[in-house]
Amino acid sequence: MHNLTLVDVSPRDGLQNESQILSPQDRVHYIQKLYAAGVRHIEIGSLVNPKAVPQMQATEAVIEAFQDKAQYPGLQTYVLVPNPKGLERLKDLTVDTVCFFSAGTNSFAKANIGMSVNESLQTYGAMVAPVKERGSRIRAYVSCMTHCPFEGDVNPQQVMEVLEAFDQMGVDEIVLGETTGQGVMAQTNSVIQECLQRMDPLRVGCHFHDTYGQGLANTMGAFALGIRSFDGSTGGLGGCPYAPGAGGNVALEEIIYAFESSGLETGIQLGKLLEAAQEMATLLDQPCRSKLCQAMDAKA
Ligand code: HMG
Ligand code: MG
Repeated sequence: MHNLTLVDVSPRDGLQNESQILSPQDRVHYIQKLYAAGVRHIEIGSLVNPKAVPQMQATEAVIEAFQDKAQYPGLQTYVLVPNPKGLERLKDLTVDTVCFFSAGTNSFAKANIGMSVNESLQTYGAMVAPVKERGSRIRAYVSCMTHCPFEGDVNPQQVMEVLEAFDQMGVDEIVLGETTGQGVMAQTNSVIQECLQRMDPLRVGCHFHDTYGQGLANTMGAFALGIRSFDGSTGGLGGCPYAPGAGGNVALEEIIYAFESSGLETGIQLGKLLEAAQEMATLLDQPCRSKLCQAMDAKA
């Protein structure tokens, strides 16, 4: 059993960086298409300041649409929550996984969430108990695992310190974020190996941006090291508004193609996922960016 978990972050990381602001209804419809394609782990939005990221406004309405577990068997919802105010916005809504996010550098943490790394760890530390009382699991992103958009190369020790702090406060999963997309496999693997000296591989996820075309190689490299949880973004959408020049995550369809062609079942139907990608590209009035989408288009 390979225990693969593939998290589609396109409704959050993807749409947060698109210039068009979609209605919650359009976002819900898109997530339903992903679910129909067999995607079961979906980051459906973020509860951040809508003035900072207007694309994610009204995420409560998106969360609300996925409250009925009987309607979406097996669906695991993930939502980014940066502070207690984000938790308050949840009221009595349920999300399966609440995602914290900090970084390996102060410059990125300050640009992204207006806090130093230590301030963010204090903030999140105080949120662990209330999140667990709500019955949600916690995943914590550590951005800038190899490179920072402001500080350049990142010392892996800084990343380990943040990871250890999250681990000690009791989060369930740590996700190493290669935010800028510059890191190559030798670099990402070296950070992952450091991380695996401290944590069980089944509690570690990888979130690779594909700006420099390294996302799939980094994914397969991490898989070879024992990582089984990977983020991808359908259609290769996205980037971080606070990481200048960062492109989208590695396309989920490319991860699926690579795993399925290597004999690993993902439970996701590639054809249906590509349909969702095309439909979103049409809505955003742009061509689907992933190489796989383009290859399938050329074949059709
Ligand atoms: P702040 O300005 O430091 O907070 O924002 P504040 O407490 O001073 O409040 C300022 C205003 O924000 C106030 O409103 C608050 O009510 C409001 P005003 O009085 O001006 O009208 N506010 C909120 N509103 C809604 N929801 C909230 C909330 N908190 C405060 N939760 C904050 C701090 C973190 C909120 C802000 O900096 C923010 O929203 N940043 C955006 C962060 C973000 O979404 N970044 C992109 C996602 S992270 C990412 O892409 C990386 C990742 O993919 C991994 C990787 O690739 O490496 C995860
Ligand atoms: Mg990201």
